[in-house]
Amino acid sequence: MINKALEGYMPESDDIVSRAMRYSVENGGKRIRPELVLSFCEACGGDSEKAMPLACALEMIHTYSLIHDDLPCMDNDDFRRGKPSCHIAFGEEYALLAGDALLTLAFETAVKAQLPAERVIDAVSVLSKAAGWAGMVGGQVMDLQNEGKKVGLEDIEKTDALKTGELIRAACVMGCIAAGRKDMIPAAEEYARCIGISFQIVDDILDITSDTATLGKPVGSDDENEKCTYVSLLGIERSKEIVSELTVKAKEALKNFDGNADFLAEFADKLEKRKN
Ligand code: IPE
Ligand code: IPE
Ligand code: MG
Ligand code: MG
Ligand code: MG
Repeated sequence: MINKALEGYMPESDDIVSRAMRYSVENGGKRIRPELVLSFCEACGGDSEKAMPLACALEMIHTYSLIHDDLPCMDNDDFRRGKPSCHIAFGEEYALLAGDALLTLAFETAVKAQLPAERVIDAVSVLSKAAGWAGMVGGQVMDLQNEGKKVGLEDIEKTDALKTGELIRAACVMGCIAAGRKDMIPAAEEYARCIGISFQIVDDILDITSDTATLGKPVGSDDENEKCTYVSLLGIERSKEIVSELTVKAKEALKNFDGNADFLAEFADKLEKRKN
């Protein structure tokens, strides 16, 4: 359903930037962020179909962040979602612009949600803040500035909470907002905090232990870029323990939901054990 909805929002024209946008969005990605939007909406008793534009908007922003993250001026990775990165397929200038266009299309899409206007405004406000300088972009800044340095656990946790955690937090919170249940935001944020950090730790572990075919993106990229990660600081075993601890905590936060949150508990387990 998410894939179909996303396709419906993409430009159909044949110009290079439209093609680059479709290339990066379609047939790719695990879609965990849009799934979280819809699942939190349902756990709050809302109609997840009505939250679909918000879910798609978030996936567009996430995809733009990946396109830019792979550019030579950032992580310089040539492979993404099982195929050549956007800048390899279309050139750096068009990859940059496809990312920009996805970011703006996200807001064009979000405001199409057939929900009460104040919920749409709240959701767009959460999304824009989480994606920007105080959120994902801010985390990417820290990630770059930490390269080649020996930074402490606190800095790594802050970086991960921003570069990865903020879009995941936005997903969970937007689901509550779509359902008209702002009272559930604190519990959703606690779940998001835990799975957000553990998601990045698992990503960093897989960068070492997986292979490109399974992962759909290059392995060894973090080492090459001298990234500071939980794994580089604490090693794989301790990092795995932290992921397990965070997964338990995430599931505890779900006890506050009166609706059915079983899927979200299973989802946290699935993310801990994921292979790509
Ligand atoms: C990759 O995110 C970037 C990180 C925040 C670690 P995903 O692992 O969700 O990437 P896709 O969407 O499945 O490609
Ligand atoms: C990416 O972190 C976080 C983003 C905001 C895109 P990584 O740089 O570790 O993500 P991958 O491994 O390239 O997917
Ligand atoms: Mg990066
Ligand atoms: Mg990267
Ligand atoms: Mg990574």
